[in-house]
Amino acid sequence: MKTIGVLTSGGDAPGMNAAVRAVVRTAISLGMNVKGISRGYNGLIEGDIIDLDVRSVSDIIHRGGTVLYTARSPRFKTEEGVNEAVENCKKFGIEGIVVIGGDGSYRGARDLSLKGIPCVGIPGTIDNDISSTEYAIGFDTAMNTAMEMVDKIRDTAQSHDRCSVVEVMGRHAGFLALQCGIAVGATAILVPEVEFNLNDIINKIRESQKTGKQHFVIVVAEGVGGVDGMAKEIEAQTGIETRATILGHVQRGGSPTVRDRVYATRFGYAAVHLLNKGIGNRVVGMNHGQVVDYDIYEALNMKKPFDTEMFEVANTTSI
Ligand code: ADP
Ligand code: F6P
Repeated sequence: MKTIGVLTSGGDAPGMNAAVRAVVRTAISLGMNVKGISRGYNGLIEGDIIDLDVRSVSDIIHRGGTVLYTARSPRFKTEEGVNEAVENCKKFGIEGIVVIGGDGSYRGARDLSLKGIPCVGIPGTIDNDISSTEYAIGFDTAMNTAMEMVDKIRDTAQSHDRCSVVEVMGRHAGFLALQCGIAVGATAILVPEVEFNLNDIINKIRESQKTGKQHFVIVVAEGVGGVDGMAKEIEAQTGIETRATILGHVQRGGSPTVRDRVYATRFGYAAVHLLNKGIGNRVVGMNHGQVVDYDIYEALNMKKPFDTEMFEVANTTSI
């Protein structure tokens, strides 16, 4: 393979730039040319494609967001869209593509691979909800950002003897909420994977009050939602002034942590080596600290169980 493309797709994640840099530099070290595709699959359909050299990716390893821009591309989900993308690959001489994104982006990579453009996926999402990997780029930075934000909220909750109900990201998954909740010592962590009863949480607050606790933090995953209603209910039933906060997109930005930069670099390196051997329709991931790769179809059918043991640890230590 002489020329490969690289794109970022779906929700951005801190560390995507480090992955792009690693892809470009690894490919060049193997004698390949690299094309940067803008705005995910949209750039492929529209031919928004530029040449990248070693210096094109200077000074980006520490930056959040993605210099390639990202997008959700409904057109790419159509047969016509994929065909246009394949035509542009031929026009620009792109023989293989590294796709950095989540499960949706992997589905696009599978479709392109089936049409004769080998693709390798790199996991990138702050939700860390990709089944084929223990770790996705962006998760560590997002966890640390969420933790810092909740620490600040806790300061003011403590000053006012209040309860704070804080929503962190994770539309379908509670991995971010679980880790952040443990790190901030949340009284309760609510995630889409585990059913809950608000009355149980209210009782837990009452029990903790009896042992002298005067301020409380409840961490709620976006997929559970309803933080305003919960705050009102907690206040009505306990008499504790309660505030709701939605952290939102602050969690998607910022300079990536060491972990995100290092994993992104390792993933980028591995993905290019697969393409260099002519191997496509794969995704790379992390398994027990080692970089591994799987067939995309297999990867998309894997299940990632929620860590109920860690959830139990959180509940036990948050009384
Ligand atoms: P993520 O990659 O973060 O999961 P999305 O689910 O939004 O994000 O997917 C990103 C893009 O990948 C979509 O906008 C679309 O272009 C492509 N994609 C998603 N699902 C499919 C699918 N089933 N078939 C083909 N392409 C898809
Ligand atoms: O996939 C990551 C994520 O941050 C989800 O947790 C969240 O629901 C979603 O992206 C929001 O994406 P956007 O606001 O870009 O549509």
